[in-house]
Amino acid sequence: MEESIRRFARTVNATPEEWRRGRLYPSMCIRPHVIVQTTTDSITLPLDHYRRRFLRNAALLGAAAMARPLSTDRFPAPDLAADICASPGPPLRKLMIPGESGYLGQLAPRGMPVTLTARPRKDLRSGTGTLEYTASHRGRLYSNPTLVVERGERVRVRLANQLPESTIVHWHGLSVSAGNDGNGSVLAAPGEVYDYDFEIRNRSAMYWYHPHPHGRSAGQTYQGLFGTVLVEDDAERSLRAALDLIPGRTEIPLIMQDRRPGDSYLPSPLDLARGLIGDELCINGVRDAYLDVATRVYRLRLLNAANARTFRIAFRTTGGSLAPFTLIGNDGGLLSAPKRCEQVFLSTAERVDVLIDLRDANVGDVLRMDTLAFDPMYAKVAEVAAGDHAGMGATGASESGSMHEYPHRWPEGSPRTLLELRVRKRVGYDRVIPASLSVMPPIDVGAASERSFRLGFAKGRWRINDRVFEMDAAPIEVQRNTVESWLIRNYHTSMPHAMHLHGFPFEVLGRETSPDEIVTLQQDPQGRLATDFGRKDTVLVWPGESVRIAVDFTMPFPGPQSYLFHCHNLEHEDGGMMLPVLVA
Ligand code: C2O
Ligand code: CU
Ligand code: CU
Repeated sequence: MEESIRRFARTVNATPEEWRRGRLYPSMCIRPHVIVQTTTDSITLPLDHYRRRFLRNAALLGAAAMARPLSTDRFPAPDLAADICASPGPPLRKLMIPGESGYLGQLAPRGMPVTLTARPRKDLRSGTGTLEYTASHRGRLYSNPTLVVERGERVRVRLANQLPESTIVHWHGLSVSAGNDGNGSVLAAPGEVYDYDFEIRNRSAMYWYHPHPHGRSAGQTYQGLFGTVLVEDDAERSLRAALDLIPGRTEIPLIMQDRRPGDSYLPSPLDLARGLIGDELCINGVRDAYLDVATRVYRLRLLNAANARTFRIAFRTTGGSLAPFTLIGNDGGLLSAPKRCEQVFLSTAERVDVLIDLRDANVGDVLRMDTLAFDPMYAKVAEVAAGDHAGMGATGASESGSMHEYPHRWPEGSPRTLLELRVRKRVGYDRVIPASLSVMPPIDVGAASERSFRLGFAKGRWRINDRVFEMDAAPIEVQRNTVESWLIRNYHTSMPHAMHLHGFPFEVLGRETSPDEIVTLQQDPQGRLATDFGRKDTVLVWPGESVRIAVDFTMPFPGPQSYLFHCHNLEHEDGGMMLPVLVA
């Protein structure tokens, strides 16, 4: 631990103490220094695995990309001497707040059918990728619309595929039948459509949608295909009324995706092993954003839409000290009671709903939403992979040789300011955060049957229970209308995996043998974190850790229904770290 802190501190020119605290970059210098990964070398995936993907991606990008050689020096060697902070930092841009049309605009279907057209983006803007879902509704045009729906509402969506490859939309977090889940077993080919028709059975929360064609989910999502679903109900309405929250003004969605320069998705072998980590953060499609605020309570609804990056979210005052915030909801909606927090980890696909109270701020103050420093705990991946290939002899490793690592400018776990909240106006505000937010009976595990999962790496692939995904593989078989208790164990020589279950929101029962960074954030004797409360659909399992969850497999759909359990690090998912779950 000490050694890794020292090592990481060196790479960002910080003292170990600064690294541990999470070094705050001055506002003119919010980008970290150019640094080199600590485990740069020699990880290799079988070349054919890489080549297959490269060709597939290249096909999507057209012939120009094909012309690029698949050589060992595609990525320039990291420049140790470069220091971005020597030049002024990037100018901050105003955060885009989704409105009633346009990018991420709020679209309330209210029973009317909606067509989402997956297509190459018409107006190329940096920060949003090259693909989009367009929709037109009641005379308004949308790109990646935010679907606003009521619990109990019937939703009819037609996906029209105008991409040059197959796709399908998955409704992440929603409890729908397998035919509506978009689990990838049926795809819409180029030019085809796929029709969804389902009822919203979930609690109010921010859910999301993204592509799920196996092997291509990462690339399509990275290239811009994702949007959110806001489910509303009475609990939601009373919260807004109590705190005078107005969506788009004092309630702001923050959809976060890290991106690399250029728009293509061309992961290196190491990216495939660890997950693709970008150099810059886009929030609602805007890089390096700021938001003007007043002296009152704001609700921020965060979605980590990154392919692989985990954030360690915290807020800092102008002076640099941590400003506590109130966590009111997680993946599956409002908690039963608010929780005061100083920081939370947010892995890919997870959501947090937070309140920040700026009543004591002065006009001119800046509150920064940061990701704090942490050890991403994947130092072992290269060794594991290398050892694995050594064991495989001449196949793969020798052929692909040593590819240079992508020269990361913002490695996972290095600190950065994500958003500046600039206090511009003094207003009177005297609302009180309600002590109770929603009613959520615990899942009854009295009669639950047990099942366990091991997460690990072997033969060049991340695996669940030593298996990788195949479309017709024997599924995990679950009996409908029963409760199961799942123990998810991650090897010490692994990396964090964001485990996600389709169709059934779960409850986190506890964590064991967690790494130090996690232990310090645990909130109860079961080892749970603030982000473990309420209903979840994705849970980050750290190396060496065991996480226990309770899942209620009650469902109204006739006949067997097929879902998925997978790592939401999209490179891991596409690589096969996924198992089918058949609920019969
Ligand atoms: Cu958001 Cu199967 O994924
Ligand atoms: Cu999902
Ligand atoms: Cu994973």
